[in-house]
Amino acid sequence: MSKKDKQIAAIKGTKDILPKEARKWQRVEAAAKGIFELYGYREIRTPVFEATELFEKGTGQTTDIVTKEMYTFTDKGGRSLTLRPEYTPSVVRSIIENNLHLQPQPLRFYFIGPMFRYDKPQKGRYRQFHQMDIEVFGEKDPAVDAEIVEMADFLLEKLKVKDKQILVNSVGCRKCRQGYYRNLRASAEKVRDQLCEDCQRKIDTNPLRIFDCKVETCREVSLGFPEITDYLCPECQEHFDKFCSYLDGYRIEYRIEPRLVRGLDYYTKTTFEIVSSKLGAQDAILGGGRYDDMMKDFGGPDMCAIGFAVGMERLLSLVPYREKRESFMYFVWLGDEARKAGMKLARPLRREGIECLIEHKERSLRNQMSRADKLGAPWVLIVGEDEVKKGTFQIKRMDSGEQRECRQEEILQILKESVGK
Ligand code: HAM
Repeated sequence: MSKKDKQIAAIKGTKDILPKEARKWQRVEAAAKGIFELYGYREIRTPVFEATELFEKGTGQTTDIVTKEMYTFTDKGGRSLTLRPEYTPSVVRSIIENNLHLQPQPLRFYFIGPMFRYDKPQKGRYRQFHQMDIEVFGEKDPAVDAEIVEMADFLLEKLKVKDKQILVNSVGCRKCRQGYYRNLRASAEKVRDQLCEDCQRKIDTNPLRIFDCKVETCREVSLGFPEITDYLCPECQEHFDKFCSYLDGYRIEYRIEPRLVRGLDYYTKTTFEIVSSKLGAQDAILGGGRYDDMMKDFGGPDMCAIGFAVGMERLLSLVPYREKRESFMYFVWLGDEARKAGMKLARPLRREGIECLIEHKERSLRNQMSRADKLGAPWVLIVGEDEVKKGTFQIKRMDSGEQRECRQEEILQILKESVGK
């Protein structure tokens, strides 16, 4: 057996987030949480697995997610469970189960965590990936649709994501879809033999899903199909017009994309995505829309909803990042007494928010200085046995090479002055 055979590797479509990268994740998550909270959202956390029927019913029986991509298994009690492929049905379940709708409004939630979809892995598409998701309940005014798009735009601006485009559409409601489906089916029927097997099935189950198909001929043929925007009922049309006018009011640039139906069954009225040409084939940084029927379809109150989810891996690939650790101090110690003095000194410094790294391994002075350099420490504190006796240390600024003797009580001041420069 070769060495490679013996190694246990990460599962295809999953990735380790290594410490260097994890810092960037933390920064992006912190920025997002900060922004979500500014708009009145609060965190909610739900389990990673749920009853399979939650997604069958919520995400939708005719979606690719439910028909092909779910991680479903039977547990020891014989129940069918599924690792969540998305977050939206879970939060609806949680609201109903915990009677959150009876609490004072607004019902605005955010969530960050892993999702699971068994799709063919490629750049920007993983089997375990992460989403930051926000959901609003009980606010039917199109102003909220515009506000969440504005919030998403703000987040991307804050993270300095440059190349982005906002696409918006309306997929109407169940009422407008009746006439639309009739005509869409009729158009699709005429070109049935040019469609892939999957799309031929979709003609009967959910013709809107044909627009999700990635097969080139289906894409081309579907260009001749009628568009939902021509079938909106007066209420949906008014909602869409107002939504767009609020976006105009924010002076947000967007493009109306009549084929933006999104890959989930629950949407009503507004749908939107923010895409980036820097992402390649999987170009959506985030996507969402309104889903006014899910709560009542689940037996809960008749409460409208809207939300979106950001794909973290895709977002992170667009965020420029250079780690700054201004108050990171590497301790160089020579001899056991010096190490003890260093350990004692690190206690109050860490309490002041200074990152102190003491590596408990005997090394030469040169060796330790080169470690500090490799680790990118802006500061080095040299603790020598003679200095310990005198109650002093040598503090060195690595970029300028400036070094001076200081007493313990001066260290904080030196760091503060340097940050202020
Ligand atoms: P979604 O469009 O399926 O919507 O996913 C949202 C985002 O998650 C995508 O735009 C993409 O960035 C990321 N994403 C999806 N699948 C993968 C994958 N396999 N690998 C990497 N990233 C991926 C939803 O999930 C809805 N629940 C959004 C929503 C919330 N609608 C209303 N509320």
